[in-house]
Amino acid sequence: MSQAFTKAMARNIFYGGSVFFFLLFLALTFDTHNAWPDRDNRAAINDSVSHGKALWEENNCVGCHSLLGEGAYFAPELGNAFQRLGGKDGIKGFIMSRPKDGIPGRRSMPQFDFSPEELDAIADFLEYVSGINTANWPPNIQG
Ligand code: HEC
Repeated sequence: MSQAFTKAMARNIFYGGSVFFFLLFLALTFDTHNAWPDRDNRAAINDSVSHGKALWEENNCVGCHSLLGEGAYFAPELGNAFQRLGGKDGIKGFIMSRPKDGIPGRRSMPQFDFSPEELDAIADFLEYVSGINTANWPPNIQG
């Protein structure tokens, strides 16, 4: 019996492998989509959270911060800022406490002059984000 590795065998491995891994890719994609409703904390989304998300975008917070790993690495990760700062009051207190002209000699966050309602919305948005099941990411409380 010949042991030659023929072109036909190579082609079959190529097509078979492509089909197998494409089907595996589809199955895992389907599995991920199925898992989202239990993990993405969608039940917590309300008008205030949406407003906070809009403020997050309008003020380009992501230009300095990362949120669940996405964004800029100039300022702290905010996916777990809710836990780190001790809840909504901690977040609002921090944002309000930023000096007008920044802190000389160090990188600091600008003062945005948000209204109380806007501050609430941002804190609600960050609370919602902190409730997303990210399989324990970020790995430590510092972000
Ligand atoms: C110009 C860059 C910049 C922008 C834009 C910015 N931040 Fe910050 N932010 C910082 C820096 C730097 C810090 C680190 C603490 C400091 O200011 O002393 C910080 C800290 C924070 C903290 C406290 C984090 C912690 O763990 O202590 C929160 C909450 C926060 N920012 C929220 C926001 C939100 C919400 C926005 C958008 C409305 C925003 N930031 C936009 C630079 C920025």
